Amino acid sequence: MFADKKNDHPMQSNPSSAKGFFPQQADPSYAAFGLKDRLVIVTGGASGIGLATVHLLARCGARIATLDSDEQGVESLRRAYPAGMHLLTNVAHHADTEIAFQNIAQSLGQPVWGLVNNAACFVMKGLEATTEDWDKVLLTNVVAPSFCSRLAVGRMSDVEGGTIVNVCSISSLIAQQGFLTYSASKGALLTATKCLALDLAPRKIRVNAVSPGSIWTESNDRYIREHRGLDRAGSDAAEDLGGKHLLQRMGDSDEVANAIVFLLSPLAGFITGSNLVVDGGYTTI
Ligand SMILES: NC(=O)c1ccc[n+]([C@@H]2O[C@H](COP(=O)([O-])OP(=O)(O)OC[C@H]3O[C@@H](n4cnc5c(N)ncnc54)[C@H](O)[C@@H]3O)[C@@H](O)[C@H]2O)c1
Repeated sequence: MFADKKNDHPMQSNPSSAKGFFPQQADPSYAAFGLKDRLVIVTGGASGIGLATVHLLARCGARIATLDSDEQGVESLRRAYPAGMHLLTNVAHHADTEIAFQNIAQSLGQPVWGLVNNAACFVMKGLEATTEDWDKVLLTNVVAPSFCSRLAVGRMSDVEGGTIVNVCSISSLIAQQGFLTYSASKGALLTATKCLALDLAPRKIRVNAVSPGSIWTESNDRYIREHRGLDRAGSDAAEDLGGKHLLQRMGDSDEVANAIVFLLSPLAGFITGSNLVVDGGYTTI
């Protein structure tokens, strides 16, 4: 089922494994995105949805910078996309993030066109969460995207503006059992998206969110195999996984990347403060 769907996928870029992916080349058929030579920074670009976004941006001919805390993943990106800049950075450490943005400006120049706040901390706990848990999840999922936005906005063009995409979640919108910490952080990020859209509109900077449902990433593959003993087909069929989505399957990283890159692109020029839900209908009923 998974393989068939993949073959049918019109915008498939690559299975999202930082360890085994094939770099993408700029492809003239992606010119309509209008992102050629524009500088886009992706946090958490070394795997999953972030990596799928990097692959699609490469096809669009964008200049790409990534910040990721996974050393091996950063190394893979450096090998695959040497023209870009890929920095080992924990975005929850503000001083390091500031230096990373300076390095990107020095190497790739300015202006920054786009920022994708994608890196996240997956602390899913209920009332048992400690203050350390709360500090970590809020720092990574709310404060870091805001801080990265400040650093990116300071480098965006006064004439052309720019664009920010915050990767939120269906957890921004609905309650899920035992998800208090993660959901509260993603709900806050969605509200932050609207606040920044309002504040930055006078500078022609658009700020939007993408909210995925359950996505089949390499991390989820590992986790679900280990904890549930399910492969992709089994996960799609499971009532509490694929079955939660109207389309009766989990999503693919590429399907989220398509939405992110659309919102980054001038094609979405009149869209700001919105939340593009990519959830196969999970939150529809
Ligand atoms: N996968 C899903 O089912 C799903 C569903 C809804 C929302 N999301 C959101 O999509 C985004 C990407 O998730 P994913 O599933 O692709 O995750 P992933 O674990 O596959 O990739 C996350 C990447 O972010 C990096 N990262 C994590 N913390 C970091 C930090 N502090 N600094 C720098 N880099 C850091 C990791 O090293 C990794 O490369 C997240 O914001 C997540 O909340 C994912």
